[in-house]
Amino acid sequence: MLSIANLSKRHPHSARPVFSGLGLAVAAGEIVALVGESGVGKSTLLNCIAGLETADAGAILVGPQAKDIVRLDEAARAALRATGIGFVFQAFHVLPTLTVAQNVAVPLLLSGVAAREHAPRIESLLARVGLAGFGPRWPGTLSGGELQRVAIARALVHRPALILADEPTGNLDPRTADEILTLLLERVREEGASALIVTHSQHVAQSCDRILTLTPDGLQ
Ligand SMILES: Nc1ncnc2c1ncn2[C@@H]1O[C@H](COP(=O)(O)OP(=O)(O)O)[C@@H](O)[C@H]1O
Ligand SMILES: [Mg+2]
Repeated sequence: MLSIANLSKRHPHSARPVFSGLGLAVAAGEIVALVGESGVGKSTLLNCIAGLETADAGAILVGPQAKDIVRLDEAARAALRATGIGFVFQAFHVLPTLTVAQNVAVPLLLSGVAAREHAPRIESLLARVGLAGFGPRWPGTLSGGELQRVAIARALVHRPALILADEPTGNLDPRTADEILTLLLERVREEGASALIVTHSQHVAQSCDRILTLTPDGLQ
């Protein structure tokens, strides 16, 4: 579902590469935890996989059709992101001027899912993340944990084959963080999706199928 070979990335104006010659494979339905010290390049790696940043060399094959996101043009990347990838960020990125239901609907609009399917899918997914009836609410009236539940629903609603989560509970208290991550893992398993989850929680990492550590020398 995700296959990375020989990946190298150096940020502009930076003396040394964040990583070089990196390889990684995530099987269909597999959930992998990505750990490593702050600043080692975890977010850069996830952004390259999502095509939000461009790698300098190597290949990143995404989805059942194994499209190489490094080589796609911007339009093709956006299309692959819209249909094949769900992203959960640390800072939620829930849009304050859209209702909860409208936020969750964004990937459905981007991936062209038929309009009559939107409301039933959104309602059932909100219920599955513990937010039944929250559809008409404004994000400003939700707690941090509730906002991250919205972000999880939004990452899953278009049924992507690959979920990328970058410290999805870094802004939450430990008990809420644990609850939300358990929920994310359950929903990813239920959808049969693959996932790469950046986390600092040992407990969460151990609930995943495999733990990879990113170091300055590469993945271990
Ligand atoms: N856009 C950028 N331009 C220059 N340097 C960057 C940029 N983004 C990240 N970096 C640097 O790349 C390194 C890896 O950052 P990051 O991927 O955010 O690490 P992590 O997510 O593991 O904490 C850091 O040294 C960071 O300062
Ligand atoms: Mg990071």
